[in-house]
Amino acid sequence: MKINGAKIIDLPKNLDRRGNLSVIEEIKNIPFKIKRTYWIYDVPGGEVRGGHAYKRNQEFIVALSGSFDVILDNGKERKSFSLNRSYYGLYVPKGVWRQMENFSTNSLALIVASIKFDPADYIYDYCLYKELTK
Ligand code: TYD
Repeated sequence: MKINGAKIIDLPKNLDRRGNLSVIEEIKNIPFKIKRTYWIYDVPGGEVRGGHAYKRNQEFIVALSGSFDVILDNGKERKSFSLNRSYYGLYVPKGVWRQMENFSTNSLALIVASIKFDPADYIYDYCLYKELTK
């Protein structure tokens, strides 16, 4: 089942006796240019983040620490992705409804985004989203 081109992308892994290092380079590792980076942390147990779609913004989400689920929905189908390693992430194209849940204790979600923060880019109403995707 495909959700509008959403996919797990493996990141380069530099294994070393001193520890591991992974990297995200725009265009090379992810299919967009990075305009913004934010992270989500200290999420209380049972809390849900997201619950919206973006009109233009694309994202790449990595579980730098701990684990959580990202639920994607294109108005017709819904799919859950479990993120729990820092050497891969989930590419979320524009126009996909997304929710993040099931955060483990001390989880840290890194999100790189293709546009600057723009409240007008958000669709918060799922009924409206369903209408727009018809
Ligand atoms: P929000 O997008 O609602 O978080 P989530 O999608 O994870 O539920 O953002 C929470 C708050 O942070 C909201 O007041 C907007 C602000 N915010 C910024 O100022 N800049 C940003 O880049 C983001 C993503 C959010």
